[in-house]
Amino acid sequence: MRAIVIESYGDNRVVNVVDVARPAPQAGELLVKVRAAGVNPIDWKIRDGAGQRMGMTLPIHLGGEISGTVEQVGAGVAGFSVGDAVFGIIRAGGFADYAMAPAADMVRMPAGLDFVTAAAIPLGALTAWQALFDVAGLARGQRLLITGASGGVGSLAVQIAKAAGAHVTAMASGRNADFVRGLGADVFIDYTAQPFEQVARDMDVVFDTVGGDTFQRAFATLRQRGFLVTSVGFPTEEDGQRNVGVGRVLCKPDAAQLSAIRDLVEARQLQPHVATVLPLEAVTDAFALSKGGRTRGKIVLEISP
Ligand SMILES: NC(=O)c1ccc[n+]([C@@H]2O[C@H](COP(=O)([O-])OP(=O)(O)OC[C@H]3O[C@@H](n4cnc5c(N)ncnc54)[C@H](OP(=O)(O)O)[C@@H]3O)[C@@H](O)[C@H]2O)c1
Repeated sequence: MRAIVIESYGDNRVVNVVDVARPAPQAGELLVKVRAAGVNPIDWKIRDGAGQRMGMTLPIHLGGEISGTVEQVGAGVAGFSVGDAVFGIIRAGGFADYAMAPAADMVRMPAGLDFVTAAAIPLGALTAWQALFDVAGLARGQRLLITGASGGVGSLAVQIAKAAGAHVTAMASGRNADFVRGLGADVFIDYTAQPFEQVARDMDVVFDTVGGDTFQRAFATLRQRGFLVTSVGFPTEEDGQRNVGVGRVLCKPDAAQLSAIRDLVEARQLQPHVATVLPLEAVTDAFALSKGGRTRGKIVLEISP
């Protein structure tokens, strides 16, 4: 079977399509025939060298977000049968014809959804869910600012926060205004037209998916004892000494949360936007696009049509 593998860290030249043996599921695992896989910034960040910091060992099989059908069920797994359509996040190996997944982390796919659209959901939606509810404790009626609102995480965060009854101010560049308003944002800020901290004030919660200067400036938009959660970088001790809460989300698999996310999709309250669909062999094009930082919604690899 085909798999996307790196044997050293570097740019796109270290990324190879290789022929590897099909794995066999261990106890508690599913072998999934991958139909589609979401492309995320973490994929090219691992390629660039983050894999080392994350404790991964080379060679690394890339790909952390899949949709597909159950091909084989490992010993001791209940609740899944061969042929079931599933989706979820995995640690590695998703950019391949077949992938191993802990059964406890996989969830039945939303009814009526195609594989490409389903693959655009798990990592972004789980990151948003965990940032908003687990880390920041977002509650109904609260005022929320989301930076990077047109991206893979932000575009799902806007919809999840609206479904939870928050008042959402969403920030992206002007070309994404209609897209972001269409996601349900109450207020749109074009960060290229004005300093966003002059417009967004008294926020209960900020969810920052951009980082750097945007993360630092976002503190000014919070009310006293508000909460800033970021998906990018690590808040410093100094960040924690302001009169607000600050935290970082680190997305992890959670089948109960992914099931709740699936319910939102089935209730038509959450709809991912797939910007670009590419074949597995075009993974380096996908990385170049993603690294460009202008993706609206998601890039998805269609692995088996
Ligand atoms: N910690 C975790 O567990 C976790 C999980 C998932 C993702 N992440 C990280 O979170 C970040 C976002 O991920 P993603 O998948 O959403 O990325 P993405 O899809 O590549 O985000 C691209 C979007 O960001 C917007 N953007 C770029 N600069 C901006 C700025 N200064 N202000 C507002 N919007 C801006 C762009 O809109 P414009 O073109 O309109 O500027 C674009 O639509 C990445 O760094 C990723 O690695 C972390």
